[in-house]
Amino acid sequence: MHVETQVNLKPYNTFGLPAIAHAFARLSSTADLHQMLVHPEYGPMPKWVLGGGSNVVFTGDLPVLVLKVEIMGRRLLGTQEEAWVVEAGAGEPWHDLVRWTIENGWPGLENLALIPGTVGGAPIQNIGAYGVELKDRFDSLDGVDLETGREFCFTREQCRFAYRDSIFKHALAGRCVVTRVRLRLPRPWQPVLEYPDLRQCEREHDPIRPDARQIFDWVCALRSTKLPDPDHVGNAGSFFKNPIVTATRFAAIRRRHPNVVGYRLPDGGAKLAAGWLIEACGWRGKTMGRAAVYPHQALVLTNQGGATARDVLTLAEAIRASVHDRFGVLLEIEPTLM
Ligand code: EPU
Repeated sequence: MHVETQVNLKPYNTFGLPAIAHAFARLSSTADLHQMLVHPEYGPMPKWVLGGGSNVVFTGDLPVLVLKVEIMGRRLLGTQEEAWVVEAGAGEPWHDLVRWTIENGWPGLENLALIPGTVGGAPIQNIGAYGVELKDRFDSLDGVDLETGREFCFTREQCRFAYRDSIFKHALAGRCVVTRVRLRLPRPWQPVLEYPDLRQCEREHDPIRPDARQIFDWVCALRSTKLPDPDHVGNAGSFFKNPIVTATRFAAIRRRHPNVVGYRLPDGGAKLAAGWLIEACGWRGKTMGRAAVYPHQALVLTNQGGATARDVLTLAEAIRASVHDRFGVLLEIEPTLM
């Protein structure tokens, strides 16, 4: 297998930040990976796994072997009475998988349309949008432990999914390559339309119950108006997580800012819309260096062309400080900093 050296990762991250990888190998199969792990020169080298590069911010060069996962393939594994089960290689673009399932009449992923990145990246951060998270449709995944070379299969419970979080960001951070993911799409299909933006689409639509294709189209249209297309404007989606605050903190913020957007959680606390907090601090559309706050969604930071990691992190820190000063809430950066 061919290993390139001194590779600029700029084309491999949606933020478009420059970073030199010491070594770079493309994996098109699990066999390629095993070959790499026993390679006399590259086997012992520290490694880092790259999928679609849509949820990473490079803060400097990477003195490691970058493993670019390009394991492809999609298939229907089975049609059970209570679910369709599909399997995809980790290197498949996530959105292509969503479209393929809808076109084949296996609905369930429509709310997760147009999310950038690959199938293998989806479980790492438990991608979510419009009222559905990957964990709601997840069956199991295959992976390889980079330290032992052992192959494993994880169930949903073993992945320890939480809001934009999984075991792969904690105990197994940097240790595994996800090779295949299986999804369970429940039958009979039920639309998920609770998210306010989708309710609005429903109200504007004929009084006919929307099908999965219709929801897919709505989600694509919503994302296109709110979020920048990484092919044109460098970005990594939401730059911060929506912060979870206690009931007391939520009440205190609401007293001073009655319009604050937040969703009550079962324990009485709330998940606040970070985009609202950032906008309320006056950041929408603001620029620092070559980094900017996206004018249509303040939760997204963008590369105006030629941005450096310093530009992005300086802007992010300034936003965090002002949100903290004003609301007493510390925002957590969502993409992985490398
Ligand atoms: N809002 C503002 N100003 C802004 C942005 C948002 O007031 O500049 C308000 C909106 O008006 C709305 C609320 O905040 O009332 C929520 O906004 P939106 O529906 O755009 O969703 P979000 O909470 O900002 C989350 C996810 C997105 C996902 C959308 C839709 C996180 C960190 N982000 O954003 O995920 O697409 O919901 O479900 O949870 C991603 O993770 O990269 C991502 C894009």
